[in-house]
Amino acid sequence: MGDLAVNLRRVTKIYGQGRTAVKALDEIDLAIERGCFLAIMGPSGSGKSTLLNVIGGLDRPTAGEVYIGDLEVTGQDEQKLYLVRRHLVGFVFQSFHLAPTLGALDNVLLPALPTGLTPDIRQRAVALLERVGMERRLDRRPGELSAGEQQRVAIARALIMNPPVVLADEPTGNLDSRTAAEVVHLIEELNRETGKTFLLVTHDPRVARHCHRVVYLRDGRLCSRAEAGLEALP
Ligand SMILES: Nc1ncnc2c1ncn2[C@@H]1O[C@H](COP(=O)(O)OP(=O)(O)OP(=O)(O)O)[C@@H](O)[C@H]1O
Ligand SMILES: [Mg+2]
Repeated sequence: MGDLAVNLRRVTKIYGQGRTAVKALDEIDLAIERGCFLAIMGPSGSGKSTLLNVIGGLDRPTAGEVYIGDLEVTGQDEQKLYLVRRHLVGFVFQSFHLAPTLGALDNVLLPALPTGLTPDIRQRAVALLERVGMERRLDRRPGELSAGEQQRVAIARALIMNPPVVLADEPTGNLDSRTAAEVVHLIEELNRETGKTFLLVTHDPRVARHCHRVVYLRDGRLCSRAEAGLEALP
């Protein structure tokens, strides 16, 4: 168990009930090593976001177990799940999800509010914004930033609590191809520098090419690349 960052055992997620029930995840077994940069691919509706959400404690599976490191996420009550979301995972979204009225630095500090804005955490936020190339935009609000810059801020925010695992749901989906390449390169470097585990959902084979490992989903099940309806990686 020791070298696994994330481990899923027979994880099933069913939305709805009876005839309208949708099996979004169907007995997924997946072990992800510490430090891995993993891509998740598959057609729309195959369960990619659901998979990230059950790993990050945003959603509870219907059956099965999810572990982050040695902690079984699925066995926790709401209050513990909240701690999982705050300390064990960082989230990056396709549409950034930054607070529109706050500047870049305050957005990065937002997850740290509940534990207190110490001088240390402020320093860490500034250092992270420097690392993602945003040191000259600390006070800019999201509306005053380009899409790529907003995603850089969101990546810094995902790292502020120093989580071992970062979950990114189509982080380059709203970026032009050149900006997407820059952002994925940044994520690749952060993975290497920090040793954190990155799980990234993408439709873009050029993004997946940067990853250590790619898994494919179809109808809530892990499958081969061909079964997911994708051509060979370029
Ligand atoms: N909250 C929900 N309530 C009901 N059904 C849901 C819910 N969330 C997802 N689903 C269903 O579960 C299945 C998997 O959805 P999911 O969002 O995980 O797919 P995805 O692979 O992320 O797709 P996309 O590439 O379009 O983002 C789909 O059939 C979807 O309609
Ligand atoms: Mg999705």
